[in-house]
Amino acid sequence: MRRIKAALFVASLGPLAYLIWLGFTGGLGADPVEFIRRSTGTWTLDFLIITLSMTPLRRMTGWHWLARLRRMFGLYAFFYAVIHVVTYLWLDQLFDLETIWRDVIKRPLIAAGFLSFVLMIPLAATSTDRMARRLGGKRWQQLHRAVYAVAIAGVIHFWWLVKLDYTRPLLYSMIFGCLLLARFVYRFRRNAPAIPTVQSAARMRDGRAGSV
Ligand code: HEM
Repeated sequence: MRRIKAALFVASLGPLAYLIWLGFTGGLGADPVEFIRRSTGTWTLDFLIITLSMTPLRRMTGWHWLARLRRMFGLYAFFYAVIHVVTYLWLDQLFDLETIWRDVIKRPLIAAGFLSFVLMIPLAATSTDRMARRLGGKRWQQLHRAVYAVAIAGVIHFWWLVKLDYTRPLLYSMIFGCLLLARFVYRFRRNAPAIPTVQSAARMRDGRAGSV
């Protein structure tokens, strides 16, 4: 497990390494800032998908070790979001707070991006075991459900910035929709009263309920 995790940790740095390599080889195109902004935005969504896939995959396969990768991938989503946001704040807006504020008010897509990013901060800050113990399992879980709100705001942000070809935001919406649906189906099944099987009905009739 440790080796798999270490390999996936290194692999998750791949997109950043690729970007740095492109930077040194002049491969970032005519507008390098746009290139960095766009690729880091996409990777944030990609890592959110990977993070949210861990639980349904674990339930389907019974591989419990997948649960231990969730936090790592979630932090990678945050890591790429930080690069994305810093690219915008620094290279695009030169940290000019007035211009940034005007952009947030004028362009709803920027506001949606900010919302998604701001929602990520408490999740990253409480991702450690110590914080999970401090908050208590139930509260921690409730807080971390906000990851779906992060994904929804991120996808809305993507829809609003696309002007012609909606294929990619549509694809992301469908994937997140399926992940959300998988979660609801699981919860519904878990909360549904068990349907008695022929054997359990017979046991109950014979007064042997609970003997197995
Ligand atoms: C403070 C928060 C954020 C700001 C100011 C921001 C800003 C931007 C800007 C200016 C663009 C490029 C628009 C263009 O080139 O036409 C962009 C693209 C994008 N952003 Fe954000 N963003 C933020 C947060 C996020 C977050 C948290 C996510 C993901 C959850 C995200 C996902 C994306 C995606 C997927 C793209 C498009 C990539 C592509 O065109 O391939 N952004 N963002």
